[in-house]
Amino acid sequence: MCGIVGYVGERRAAPVILDGLRRLEYRGYDSAGLAVLAADQVQTIRRVGHVAALAAAVPGDLAGTTAIGHTRWATHGGVTESNAHPHLDSTNRIALAHNGIIENHTGLRARLEEEGVTFRSDTDTEVLVHLVRKFYDGDPEAAVRHALGLIQGTYGVAVIFWDHPGVIIAARNGSPLVVGKGNGETFLASDPHALSAHTREVVYLEDRDIARIDARGWSISRMDGGGVSRVVEVLGEEWEDEGRGDYSHHMLKEIHEQPESLARCLRGRVVPDQGGARLGGLDLTPRDIAGIRHITVLGCGTSFHAGLVGAAAMEGLARIPASAEIASEFRYRNPVIGPDDLFLAVSQSGETADTLGAVKEVQVKGGKVLGVVNVVGSSIARVCGHGVYVHSGPEIAVASTKAFTSQVAALLVASLSFARTRVLGPHEGKVFGEELLAVPERVGEWLASEPSSLHDAVELCTKGKFVFFLGRGVSHAVALEGALKLKEVAYVPCMAYPAAEMKHGPIALIDRNTPVIVVIPDDVMRDKTLSTIQEVRARGARVIAIHTAGDSACAKLADVSIPVPRASPLITPLLSVLPLQLLAYRAGLALGRDIDRPRNLAKSVTVE
Ligand code: G6P
Repeated sequence: MCGIVGYVGERRAAPVILDGLRRLEYRGYDSAGLAVLAADQVQTIRRVGHVAALAAAVPGDLAGTTAIGHTRWATHGGVTESNAHPHLDSTNRIALAHNGIIENHTGLRARLEEEGVTFRSDTDTEVLVHLVRKFYDGDPEAAVRHALGLIQGTYGVAVIFWDHPGVIIAARNGSPLVVGKGNGETFLASDPHALSAHTREVVYLEDRDIARIDARGWSISRMDGGGVSRVVEVLGEEWEDEGRGDYSHHMLKEIHEQPESLARCLRGRVVPDQGGARLGGLDLTPRDIAGIRHITVLGCGTSFHAGLVGAAAMEGLARIPASAEIASEFRYRNPVIGPDDLFLAVSQSGETADTLGAVKEVQVKGGKVLGVVNVVGSSIARVCGHGVYVHSGPEIAVASTKAFTSQVAALLVASLSFARTRVLGPHEGKVFGEELLAVPERVGEWLASEPSSLHDAVELCTKGKFVFFLGRGVSHAVALEGALKLKEVAYVPCMAYPAAEMKHGPIALIDRNTPVIVVIPDDVMRDKTLSTIQEVRARGARVIAIHTAGDSACAKLADVSIPVPRASPLITPLLSVLPLQLLAYRAGLALGRDIDRPRNLAKSVTVE
């Protein structure tokens, strides 16, 4: 959510900033701006819309070798040029970009207005730049430290001062910032993705760190004044920017990457010979695993849906009582956390504020929490300390696809490992492991021969006023994920429901021609879900069934039949979600949506 980029060195800074902003744009894309320091002047250019609009407005010869930039996802104040970052103090000599939320901005603003400051935006951020100006007496770091001392809330900030060319002050509390070391130049970003083209040597700021950055490097201290040194880490290859290749959108590319991303997630981890799985990062002994009393899987959005499948597998396969919970709800309900409970925090970005908050809540109460994270070195991965990386590779499209299947796969591997320790014999473990290892190839085969009936489904869904998604057990999680994709990418109103709950109210919404997508693999619930299909058909619904290949009864009953390969019940989500990902993509395309950057959304939601 919102991206920050900074540069100090000898190059013209504007192109570096624009390139970084392009790479961060998936985090927020309402508006973008940059502030460049040249000849003791701060020059700011801001534009509503995508980074391309900003790039078009930046003169090709814009001088200045110190700059900061920002891409915004609006929280306080509408999407306007005056609300775009960087913000300037009243004398236009200090520029500041901010990620996060300043919770006490109303009181601070009133006080500053009483002191004669005129505000030029509706943002919470602007108070900060005026406070920095107020406390500035020639020492940039001291002024930022002083101003931030009055702030309640979260921030990642970057500030430049007209009379300190070649210096950026950066500080972090709750919103990530990473400093990159170049050769005679230094970079700053809210996400290493923005830096990977320039350097692989980075330092992650910790909460309450403040850094003074110049072309030679940086010095970091704590907000309370104490000195500190942070380890330089080397970014792995996962940060390579591969672009879109021949695909028209990142989302389509990422859907088609699933055979490889799944194989990467499973490789070396599933050990059929032993009928089990190996996940060293979990740091759990067999004795620890045997003693787990309850597992709670935490996450938001797509990661929560993966967590639902994970919890079902922990209970169904490993016979450990388990549930999944939306992180934002969990963190504020004062949860009871027992010594033998285990928590799994699932997050693609590893930066979701609600999930990070839930992790901290578990830790405050002495609980054990492990990360199931994609982005290596992200906040959740670091705060958890241990866990599983899902290795889906960079996911750029806002709507998550390959991360979902890798999260499910990682949770299935963990379930297999726990199951083998607690209840599962080597033969059953081997069978499950071998089936898991075969999934990437089956996913590839299905994607290569996408059924033509998908087009009929797209037509029904784009014409309908409202779409239902139904499923039971893990297929309910798939239905939730399918509905989320259709909302995010195509803006089609829709709702997912456990199939049997339809008769308790929602069936009143069914009208002639209402599209109802039913995820109905051939499992123990199939016959019951068939009855639900009959019930909605009797009321005029048009049924799109995602069913097991060869289930002719199901195919016959549906208006649109989309077969997926047969699989064990817990593995079906990895296959039945594929048509729903493509359905959302194709519906978004048919409706002319901005597929990779849907309106109002952001890839990484770092505010509550
Ligand atoms: C945002 C994204 C969703 C994502 C959710 C959780 O809302 O738009 O696609 O599922 O955050 O993100 P995480 O990075 O924690 O998986």
